[in-house]
Amino acid sequence: MSGQVPVIETQGLGKVYSPGTEAEVVALRDVDISIARGDFVAIMGPSGSGKSTLMNLIGCLDTPSAGTYRCDGIDVSTLDAEELAVLRRDKIGFVFQGFNLLPRMSALENVAMPLGYARVPPDERSALAHEALAAVGLSERESHRPSELSGGQQQRVAIARALINRPPILLADEPTGALDSRTGEEILALFGRLREDGHTVVIITHDPEVAAHAGRVLTMLDGELREEPRLVIGDS
Ligand SMILES: Nc1ncnc2c1ncn2[C@@H]1O[C@H](COP(=O)(O)OP(=O)(O)OP(=O)(O)O)[C@@H](O)[C@H]1O
Ligand SMILES: [Mg+2]
Repeated sequence: MSGQVPVIETQGLGKVYSPGTEAEVVALRDVDISIARGDFVAIMGPSGSGKSTLMNLIGCLDTPSAGTYRCDGIDVSTLDAEELAVLRRDKIGFVFQGFNLLPRMSALENVAMPLGYARVPPDERSALAHEALAAVGLSERESHRPSELSGGQQQRVAIARALINRPPILLADEPTGALDSRTGEEILALFGRLREDGHTVVIITHDPEVAAHAGRVLTMLDGELREEPRLVIGDS
């Protein structure tokens, strides 16, 4: 279907931190990507190569220094702060590198966060959060605080939170980094199901096995993006 608008499309995207100062870092240069609805994309590359920077721009958590980003056909630079917040809420689920869970809240409360107090009544919030935690295998840990959970369990809470609004785009920064291989496989299977449901999934990973699950592998190097030809890994 060539008429379809890419769900994520950047042109000449660039990011410079602290421009014009001694601390200036060119973190991203001239990145062009086009990601179609339902793609499952892995982003790889060494530490400091700009992966999280790119992800933060795609997730509308930061603004570029150069270039344009269209999310679902909308040039995000035309949106004000409130419109951006709505776009993020409705279209994007974000799993952060390092989870970003609120320490004083239970797992259930953390997962319910993105629903918004005003928008969704309390009963419904709890029911949806309960469902999302069950989907990542954490029904038994609803009332635990992050400090009372293992690293992998915290990661799964972060994923449940990212999925609570059923966003069409799921962005995950090292989603399997802190997980043992079995839990990592479960998380990947979860992403696979999301993709089958028509979600677009973009994950950052250092793990070639995780990348092998993706339909496309993009590699960052010194702020520049390259697309690898598809590797076919033999299954025996
Ligand atoms: N807020 C910031 N201010 C200044 N420099 C930054 C900031 N965030 C990142 N950088 C720098 O930009 C470059 C890219 O950082 P980024 O976090 O995107 O790397 P990464 O590929 O995600 O690395 P990792 O695999 O270690 O998470 C690095 O050199 C980093 O030091
Ligand atoms: Mg990073």
